[in-house]
Amino acid sequence: MKLHDVAVVGATGLVGRAMVKVLEERNFPVNRLVLLASERSVGKEVTFNGKPQPVHKLEPERFKHIEYALFSAGATISKEFASHAVKFGAVVIDNSSAFRMEENIPLVVPEVNRKQIFKHKGIIANPNCSTIQLVVVLKPLHDAFGIKRVVVSTYQSVTGAGKIAVEQLQEELANRTPAQKKFPHPIAYNCLPHIDIFFEDGYTKEEFKVINETKKIMGVSFKVTATCVRVPTTGGHSESVNIEFEKKCTPEQVRELLRSTPGVVVQDDPMKNVYPMPINAHDKDDVFVGRIRKDDTVPNGINLWVVSDNIRKGAATNAVQIAEALVLGK
Ligand SMILES: NC(=O)c1ccc[n+]([C@@H]2O[C@H](COP(=O)([O-])OP(=O)(O)OC[C@H]3O[C@@H](n4cnc5c(N)ncnc54)[C@H](OP(=O)(O)O)[C@@H]3O)[C@@H](O)[C@H]2O)c1
Repeated sequence: MKLHDVAVVGATGLVGRAMVKVLEERNFPVNRLVLLASERSVGKEVTFNGKPQPVHKLEPERFKHIEYALFSAGATISKEFASHAVKFGAVVIDNSSAFRMEENIPLVVPEVNRKQIFKHKGIIANPNCSTIQLVVVLKPLHDAFGIKRVVVSTYQSVTGAGKIAVEQLQEELANRTPAQKKFPHPIAYNCLPHIDIFFEDGYTKEEFKVINETKKIMGVSFKVTATCVRVPTTGGHSESVNIEFEKKCTPEQVRELLRSTPGVVVQDDPMKNVYPMPINAHDKDDVFVGRIRKDDTVPNGINLWVVSDNIRKGAATNAVQIAEALVLGK
């Protein structure tokens, strides 16, 4: 098998480290792995296939001969450096929000719109973590029953806000003053109905991402509304999802369909306390669904609960799956 030169930008971050781990776990055909981060990380190492690899400062020339560049260092860095990687001939798979809503840039979840991968012109965008786990579940349900409207409320892990956020939670739980703060309020013993910036209409940018990215990935115009909340968990994001369908469907039909959906695991036996939880989703690639039940307040309503590790399927694994599709050419 042909081996490929791969770069990971943001290799010292939560997502970047997971990317290196996922490349290793999935035996991605790597020839040379180039790890890039800020100047602060020069001298650090990240282990790949049992060998410590040096972290270099991100500079345009680092992309020479790189075929796949996985970016996870924030939108500002992606906007500045993705074009350099493309000029050197790499395909960029970008985890930031920089390019997601650009018309000619594919926004891809392989289980949902794999074909879009092959329409790229150098950059492929990886969706927002809370959107990825949502569309993996919505897609088969929409194909079967036609979705009219979705109301999603998220309970998002602090890992979704990067390593400083995790340190803030740990410091607060240990009753210490955090050296750096990611959130405007304490996150330990708290929850914040505030992820990313607020717009004038009262919604946050995270809510805007969930709504618009869902429609772009699925190629649909059904109604979606969202409330995104940060909670002091670390294993993954949870979502309460209320769906109104065009066609009649029962909770059992939904369970059956999702049981046969690749990438989805149904955990739904509430009488035995079985339902998805972030603590169990941690470090796994599946999207877990439970609490599947009828919503009698609308003609064809279903409520369900969706949990997935935002660092894995919500970021690193999805990006590596896209790179795998490119390598396979299908
Ligand atoms: N966390 C999630 O669940 C998730 C999910 C989907 C997408 N994303 C996106 O992925 C990106 C990274 O998230 P994260 O959670 O991994 O954040 P993180 O833990 O804070 O890591 C940020 C990474 O970016 C690097 N970086 C920061 N400034 C840089 C600069 N000037 N030049 C080069 N590298 C720089 C950092 O390097 P240093 O260590 O040297 O500072 C670090 O490697 C963000 O765009 C985020 O929106 C995150």
